[in-house]
Amino acid sequence: MLEKAQFEIPGRGIFEKWLYNGQFPGPEIRAKEGERLRVAIKNNLPEGTTVHWHGIPLQNAMDGVPDITQPAIPPGGGFIYEFNAAPAGSYMYHSHVGLQQDRGLVGPLVVGEKNAHIAYDREYTLTLTDFLAGAPAPLGRMKAAGSATMDMLAPPYIALLINGRPPEAPSVFQVKSGERVRLRLINPSGTTIYRFAIGGHPLTITHTDGRPVEPFRVDALRFGPGERYDVLVEARNPGAWPIAASPDNDLPAARAVLQYIDANPAMPRADAMPEGLTGGRLLQLEDLRGLDVPEVRKPNRIFNFVLAGGMLKLGGMMNPGSSPPMLIQEWTMNGQAYPNAEPLEIHRGEAVRIRLENQSAMPHPMHLHGHFYRVGNVSKDTTIVWAYSKKRVELDLVADNPGAWLFHCHNLYHMDGGMMRVVRYV
Ligand code: C2O
Ligand code: CU
Repeated sequence: MLEKAQFEIPGRGIFEKWLYNGQFPGPEIRAKEGERLRVAIKNNLPEGTTVHWHGIPLQNAMDGVPDITQPAIPPGGGFIYEFNAAPAGSYMYHSHVGLQQDRGLVGPLVVGEKNAHIAYDREYTLTLTDFLAGAPAPLGRMKAAGSATMDMLAPPYIALLINGRPPEAPSVFQVKSGERVRLRLINPSGTTIYRFAIGGHPLTITHTDGRPVEPFRVDALRFGPGERYDVLVEARNPGAWPIAASPDNDLPAARAVLQYIDANPAMPRADAMPEGLTGGRLLQLEDLRGLDVPEVRKPNRIFNFVLAGGMLKLGGMMNPGSSPPMLIQEWTMNGQAYPNAEPLEIHRGEAVRIRLENQSAMPHPMHLHGHFYRVGNVSKDTTIVWAYSKKRVELDLVADNPGAWLFHCHNLYHMDGGMMRVVRYV
């Protein structure tokens, strides 16, 4: 059920959010690989909504994109999503209507493997979110009450949370000495890219966006909105250690605690930070080798995109001094801002390559619905194209899932500002 609900952040107050079953993040949905998943939605919100199952290559009609795969579920209405939970992996779900995602409509989705390529004794899901106290609004310059104007260049998040808890009242994840612990790191944040590390423990990367990779050890990883990483942590260093994720904005790092229950340790100091946040080995995507990654075929079709944009001035130029110019954000792919943008037309069975170059000052986590693509040596569905990247990022996919799918930046406000295209099978 989707409803308006009060959400309390310990020590910070009570906030009016739009939530799945009154929880933030929404309830973890778990299925076994290959199971049929049925999720019944009842919309008690004042607006229409949809639920997108981010990352799962499901049937197009279940993808939850308003006006493209279904009409929005109206207030008071319902919808049943039904699809095969496959392949196994760490996924997420969220609203795909406007800026609703930043009202609190996000949650983790986990499809467990029949046979995992790694062994572990316990697992936890860590969902990282940036949190708004009020309702989300498009970025730009706005007329506030009276004649004052306000520049809103970034959403006014008040905190970064792990599983709904703030740094000063963190979630505690318990382990026993000798255990191997699998962590599923899920990022349904509106805009925040994190650098993640754990004090005293290296991270062994085992999955990118749910897809298995040869285990690879690092001290830290960066991940953006829409991305997921699974990591293995070997509990061989008894104590209570900070788990932290420092953001690419000014907010204090998101925090949690890794606590050995057989060691009776004192909690880490509030300012204790994992060494991996500032030093050590940081994961580079090129380091990883995916398992079962399809060979890249010679592409039948290539799309080249330049990602660009930022704040755009409108009006106020004609009579300087009268009213300040309006600022709106516009984010483009080859100069076009959705919905005034051409679809990418592809044919079933084709090998498709999408090349991305980022000429803007912001990184763009680019997400494709309904497919995994190959990037470097791994499979993913969301990849950060870093600001002013000289090197093009190449995404290779096989067109094997007919329908109309979105390809967009997973920074919610960049998507809202136009950085989105439809990929259509013709
Ligand atoms: Cu999480 Cu259109 O995506
Ligand atoms: Cu972007």
